[in-house]
Amino acid sequence: MNIQGQHYRTLWLKPGNDRVVQIIDQRFLPHRFVIEDLATVDQVAVAIQEMHIRGAGLIGATAGFGMYIAALEACHGHSFEGHLQSAAQQLKATRPTAVNLAWAVDRQLAAIAKGASPEEKVTIAFATAQEIAEEDAAYCRRIGEHGLALIEAISRAKGGAPVHVLTHCNAGWLAFVDYGSATAPIYAAHDQGIAVHVWVDETRPRSQGAKLTAWELGQHGVPHTLIADNTGGHLMQHGMVDLVIVGTDRTTRTGDVANKIGTYLKALAAKDNNVPFYVALPSSSFDWEMRDGVAEIPIEERGSEEVKYAEGWLDGAQVEVLVAPESSPAANYGFDITPNRLVTGLITERGLCKANEEGILALFPEKSDTASSS
Ligand code: MRU
Repeated sequence: MNIQGQHYRTLWLKPGNDRVVQIIDQRFLPHRFVIEDLATVDQVAVAIQEMHIRGAGLIGATAGFGMYIAALEACHGHSFEGHLQSAAQQLKATRPTAVNLAWAVDRQLAAIAKGASPEEKVTIAFATAQEIAEEDAAYCRRIGEHGLALIEAISRAKGGAPVHVLTHCNAGWLAFVDYGSATAPIYAAHDQGIAVHVWVDETRPRSQGAKLTAWELGQHGVPHTLIADNTGGHLMQHGMVDLVIVGTDRTTRTGDVANKIGTYLKALAAKDNNVPFYVALPSSSFDWEMRDGVAEIPIEERGSEEVKYAEGWLDGAQVEVLVAPESSPAANYGFDITPNRLVTGLITERGLCKANEEGILALFPEKSDTASSS
């Protein structure tokens, strides 16, 4: 995607030093564009845990490079296997909900195990990290192509009047290597000249909608309007939302969707107002082992200060201000589960499907025997 006319991905190898990965440090967006070097597993773990990078696809791709860095480190003064396993544990422990993290680490462990020598293992880890990142971008591009048909159809039905899409949090290119999941159909429609406008939920407490989605849509020239988190229901009641598209951090094989806290309430409002509610995801965000999202998906709980304080920029500096009474306790659940009955459909790299086991397995038949279908 473009930033002031220059093409960027969200992570890349440092020019001239392919032992170092560079990322856009998203904590400073939209006010400052900061690039950070990641050269050790510890730095990669901190970048994921403290959300220098975030979003399911990008967490996975960064962990993939983290395992490459672990293989490099393992060549120097460690038991190779011991260091690799402890790096895998360290990375997996950084954030619990996005399944792409464990998926990428496990994919690396399986690939690296095929190498006969430390040198060969490093070569494999390098290639696998690049594969994961390339695949992420390619799959998101395809999600855009498949999701475009939905927006096109609504645009035709409205005689070319703007299609109003509501999205929550940031499932944009900043949450992946490129394109995004929820935003990919929006970018594809906009690039084809279809009039599209996006309602952007601010997404408290970390404000990924206000800080990241609004910024990336603006960089791409997509018309959008930022709204407070509780506005979506009102807009839907007044016919001002044609379609909801969100991303996901983990979706069960039965189509239950974990996404940023507040997504469930948008799905309920969409159901009540007959607004189609779609979830866009690459296959790396499916958890093929899980069937019941509410019972099984781990929900991240973060510090109460994120709820009690608001963060922003003042006179060129990042500041935090206390909003709530200092002594009030606050709870901070990062994600919620939208049950499959509230999801109109899924948009994947292989096409659209119903949010149920039958629909999902019709697109991914190779996963039919990965969990018993009771
Ligand atoms: O906590 P984050 O910013 O990593 O969470 C990201 C989200 O929940 C996004 O909404 C997104 O839909 C899932 S990541 C593609």
